Amino acid sequence: ESSTEIDVSSVQPGMAIKAVFRKQPLFVRRLTPAEIKAANAVDVSSLRDPQTLAERTKEGHEDLLITMGVCTHLGCVPLGAGEGENKGPFGGYFCPCHGSAYDTAARIRKGPAPKNLEVPEYEFTSDTVVKVG
Ligand code: FES
Repeated sequence: ESSTEIDVSSVQPGMAIKAVFRKQPLFVRRLTPAEIKAANAVDVSSLRDPQTLAERTKEGHEDLLITMGVCTHLGCVPLGAGEGENKGPFGGYFCPCHGSAYDTAARIRKGPAPKNLEVPEYEFTSDTVVKVG
């Protein structure tokens, strides 16, 4: 069991960074107020993998979205966690392999992927440091 500590203080609203967790890509994203609003405006019962943004983040830190950077279809690394990358039609992440589109809560909205991007186990060890795993 290995865990990864990430300083999230430099992740500004609208920005996402790529990290590595257990040799797999991990996305750390700071949502803008508009992105939070967009995520919360969705009718959860209409989703393929129904989850609210609150269920996918930590209380008091709903602006920080931490997910695996692994498409739940066949495991490609979606775009959207780098500067200028294509976030896709739902503004979150976009998998170029077969066109799965994820929203600002990294929930699957279109394309073949069956599940939302996975949220790993993690906790805040301070206001700015997250321990994943
Ligand atoms: Fe992402 Fe197929 S691996 S859409």
